[in-house]
Amino acid sequence: MRKIIINGGKRLSGEVAVSGAKNSVVALIPAIILAGDKVTLDGVPAISDVDSLVEIMEIMGAEVDYQGETLVIDPSQVQSIPMPYGKINSLRASYYFYGSLLGRFGKATVGLPGGCDLGPRPIDLHLKAFEAMGAEVSFEGENMHLEAKDGRLHGAHIYMDTVSVGATINTMLAATRADGKTVIENAAREPEIIDIATLLNNMGAHIRGAGTDIITIEGVDTLHGTNHQVIPDRIEAGTYIALAAAIGDGVKVTNVLYEHLESFIAKLEEMGVRMTVEEDAIFVEKQENLKAVNIKTSPYPGFATDLQQPMTPLLLTANGRGTIIDTIYEKRVNHVPEMARMGADISIVGGQIVYHGPNHLTGAQVKATDLRAGAALVTAGLMAEGKTEIRNIEFILRGYANIIEKLQDLGADISLIEE
Ligand code: UD1
Repeated sequence: MRKIIINGGKRLSGEVAVSGAKNSVVALIPAIILAGDKVTLDGVPAISDVDSLVEIMEIMGAEVDYQGETLVIDPSQVQSIPMPYGKINSLRASYYFYGSLLGRFGKATVGLPGGCDLGPRPIDLHLKAFEAMGAEVSFEGENMHLEAKDGRLHGAHIYMDTVSVGATINTMLAATRADGKTVIENAAREPEIIDIATLLNNMGAHIRGAGTDIITIEGVDTLHGTNHQVIPDRIEAGTYIALAAAIGDGVKVTNVLYEHLESFIAKLEEMGVRMTVEEDAIFVEKQENLKAVNIKTSPYPGFATDLQQPMTPLLLTANGRGTIIDTIYEKRVNHVPEMARMGADISIVGGQIVYHGPNHLTGAQVKATDLRAGAALVTAGLMAEGKTEIRNIEFILRGYANIIEKLQDLGADISLIEE
């Protein structure tokens, strides 16, 4: 078993560089299946979700060369073979194989997706969109089989009942090589969606409107290879900015696109966090007298649900009472009992998180229950007096590239141990 050990209470300083976006790369890799030729991705983050996707691509017949942050994939020999449940259910974003395999081959047999347990995470919108494009959906044990009735999907007019990142991207993937025009209404507007559309368009797709709530895709017959730079991870950036505000003595977070973080930065300003926005970096000063605030998550450009947990330790340093309401995943509260175990005045009352500050945390044995809860525990451990031991760290390594090294470079006493 692997654990993270932190001796907390040390203030951090220096520079930390943000890696490529996890939520982009997990869709960019399956998207490559749609190309007829080699695609090169630069800025690929060193996270275990990428390793899992690369392994799945190789099983399907792709030729892969992965060195440093550069991933070259030749998908020309890929075959639509049934994907074993064990591999697929290790990550939520495996659902992007539905869209890309359907788009290229007109059929796919893929295990049901896994990922973090944030309460119910349905995929009904994905399936509804595929069906609107002429696919038939059937279940075979733990696998799902999708097949275009006419051998190839056709364009369709699709209205998303709920704003969904996954369903928007999956529909784009499936529609790219469909016959005719697809319109997605009430589409999600996350920066990752623009990133996937940019890759697809550079491969020869005709996608317009990504980043707005109406996306139009004119289907094309073939797509070619290209090069693509993955956008910076706004959630990783937010995690380090919050961490720097909580326990920093002057930390510069680099490779940041400020425009992707506006609602998050606005919340920090409301708390009184002092920082300087530079061209592609944010310098966070040492903070004093922060004010408690209320947070309500919503789809982009609202406050990201993925930043709610990493921001919680910072909130605990503020004066007063505040609440967190997650309107996307109301069960995203697993970090709360762990923070309480470290001495925080935080609880769940009537479906919302309520905290009172300021808090002085003490080190404890805690458990990462999901990716972002894990990030929150790392920050809390760095703030706490004494030793914190975090178990279940596989969740953290799924989404934070080189997190131990990055924090050590900032002066943290943190290590990963194998038992
Ligand atoms: C993506 C992100 C995840 C983030 C989430 C919300 C990836 C790999 N993951 O997840 O980090 O927390 O967006 O920003 O990009 N829903 C349905 N039916 C569906 C699909 C979704 O009802 O078919 C609901 C969900 O239960 C949730 C809401 O829609 O309440 C938004 O979910 P969605 O945007 O789809 O999340 P993911 O794409 O899975």
